Amino acid sequence: MELGKNFIGGHWVEAASGETFASVNPANGEVVGMAPRSAAEDVDRAVDAARMAFPAWRRTPAPARGEIVLAIARAIEKEKESLARLMTREMGKVLAEARGDVQEAIDVAHYFAGEGRRLFGYTTPSELPGKACLTMRDPVGVVAAITAWNFPVAVPSWKMMPALVAGNTVVFKPASEAAIVAAALVRVMAEAGLPPGVVNLVLGPGDPVGETLATHPGVNAVSFTGSTPTGVRLAARAALANKRISLEMGGKNAVIVMDDADLDLAVDGIIWSAYGTTGQRCTSCSRVIVHRAVEAALIDRLVKRIRLLKLGNGLDPSVDVGPVINLRQLEKIDEYVRVGKSEGAKLLIGGERALDGELAQGTFYKPTLFAGVLPNMRIAREEIFGPVLSVISVASLDEAITVNNDTDYGLSSSIYTGNVNNAFFAMREITTGIVYVNAGTIGAEVHLPFGGTRGTGNGHREVGTAALDFCTEWKSAYIDFSGKLQRAQIDNR
Ligand code: UN1
Repeated sequence: MELGKNFIGGHWVEAASGETFASVNPANGEVVGMAPRSAAEDVDRAVDAARMAFPAWRRTPAPARGEIVLAIARAIEKEKESLARLMTREMGKVLAEARGDVQEAIDVAHYFAGEGRRLFGYTTPSELPGKACLTMRDPVGVVAAITAWNFPVAVPSWKMMPALVAGNTVVFKPASEAAIVAAALVRVMAEAGLPPGVVNLVLGPGDPVGETLATHPGVNAVSFTGSTPTGVRLAARAALANKRISLEMGGKNAVIVMDDADLDLAVDGIIWSAYGTTGQRCTSCSRVIVHRAVEAALIDRLVKRIRLLKLGNGLDPSVDVGPVINLRQLEKIDEYVRVGKSEGAKLLIGGERALDGELAQGTFYKPTLFAGVLPNMRIAREEIFGPVLSVISVASLDEAITVNNDTDYGLSSSIYTGNVNNAFFAMREITTGIVYVNAGTIGAEVHLPFGGTRGTGNGHREVGTAALDFCTEWKSAYIDFSGKLQRAQIDNR
């Protein structure tokens, strides 16, 4: 069994209360580790440590910060296999995907290590003679990273790597379902050479740890990934404290399949996007919007492929679909299946908990497909966060795009078409933050902005250079070398 601890000011410590909680493997109920059940006092200590470390870290030249982030990339690379295995044990995703999750952290660390030698501002002429103008990015201070369990290494790295290279210090609060692998990530980062206090870790429940952190006067910016109700509540509280907060929340992502699509390719993309990670990505596909001319053929192929999906422990390389994260989530998924049936959608396959043999030890749900789904049904509108896919039939590309855009969320969309005009038309008309052509809804890369419109976010973007806009303040500098008073807007008129 692993022991997770808090990491505060360079020390691994218990919660002040001494209380702990267990993190459990959703595939078989094994206790993976024990972690401190922290409270407000622990958050205070972590924020103090981050504040203490901030002045020296801010003054460390950005290229030197970048070199430490590069050392972190290399250290994570060395531990890729151990982190991936721990991740699979703790939150269930299949090992190939867990390796991908760790690789995404390596990629983002590489990308932002290079940013240490850029962090570009710009120079621009002044309206006055003998005067120079330039801009630079300043770190905001202490950044709180509050993350979900479904990308336990990648998404915390999305938040921490840009913040660190920009000169911020960090307090990291991961989801309790991924506390042990989060602690392992922080250990690797710390051992790669981060000065004490630059990254701090506080484990424990969202209330009080996340809530205290998000509203803490010592925290300058909060980067949150999680559910829409929690994110919106934190944002409301952060607004009262005039604190910057970035929200990355739900999705109701769709794949559009046109009548000119390569159906086999579409089936590959849909199966991967809907049932990969057991449907538990914010980018997962939960709606297929299909042109009615190919609806029957597509459904037929989907059902055949779903039948072949193997459920089980993600450490077994022959397994395609791991468990859902816990019993509460399993019950929520099952409830949505009941809702779908009662709304009149046609259940084609799945629709129940998987209890055969060893699966009964864990929280497994059979990959589920509904056809005959109408855009206004709840299963077509609400985020389920599980292996449940709804097929909606349409008569044209215009209708497909209308249905695609008509949702409370706006993260990712995809269109399968062999027609370049349809592809560009869709790219222009789709209103989600991410659009794929002839690929599923998942698979974002770390050097492009990641985020969504409407209920998915609040206008910020993660990764890519866009991430720096969140964790830095622009500073504009004016240097007057004319030796006299020059009044802007006045003396040059
Ligand atoms: C998430 O589900 O929170 O594009 C992140 C993807 C991954 C990231 C998903 N690269 O699906």
